Amino acid sequence: MVHFLHMTYTTKTFDLPVLTGLSEKQIKVHLGLYEGYVKHANLIMEKIKALKETDAEGNSYLVAELRRRFAFEFNGMRMHEYYFSQFEGEKGGDPASALAVAAAKKYGSGEDFIKHIKEVAGSRGIGWVVVYYDPSAATLHTVFVNDHELGQLAGLPVLLALDLWEHAFMVDYVPAEKKNYIDAFFANLNWSVVEKRFEEAAKRIAA
Ligand SMILES: [Fe+2]
Repeated sequence: MVHFLHMTYTTKTFDLPVLTGLSEKQIKVHLGLYEGYVKHANLIMEKIKALKETDAEGNSYLVAELRRRFAFEFNGMRMHEYYFSQFEGEKGGDPASALAVAAAKKYGSGEDFIKHIKEVAGSRGIGWVVVYYDPSAATLHTVFVNDHELGQLAGLPVLLALDLWEHAFMVDYVPAEKKNYIDAFFANLNWSVVEKRFEEAAKRIAA
């Protein structure tokens, strides 16, 4: 049996300004949920280790299922880190940024890019809207990811993550008001965070 280094993830803190249309209680509840993902990502790694050390052969089915489960906890953790950090800092955004140029190339204009994200966000059901950049094709992709452990685009850097699980807005809005939540998301989104992610993604060497 291979013994490998055991590590744990630490819950990140987010320096959030006062948000428009998203209450403190809503954010607190949602951050609590994020903390749960971090805790459980760590727990799964611990449990796998313990099960293997106790009886690797006898516990092989349990370990295999926990390995499958890991992406649910890990992606839940990471997607919320993308989500909350988008609200940090002084709200900025440069209409002439490299991201704006890439968005205009694919969607026509910056406004059409936002219009498209909102259209995808209007899909029925829970999930995430994720905007990725594919450096190998120099293009953006706007995807609806139903379950965050499934349907993500492999290896592509995440530029924007819009949480559309009901827990993200149900403290402040009823399900029929999802559109208002989406508007609130954009009212608070710090585009300069997204632009920075794009710049870093664009630096990646094409595969
Ligand atoms: Fe969430």
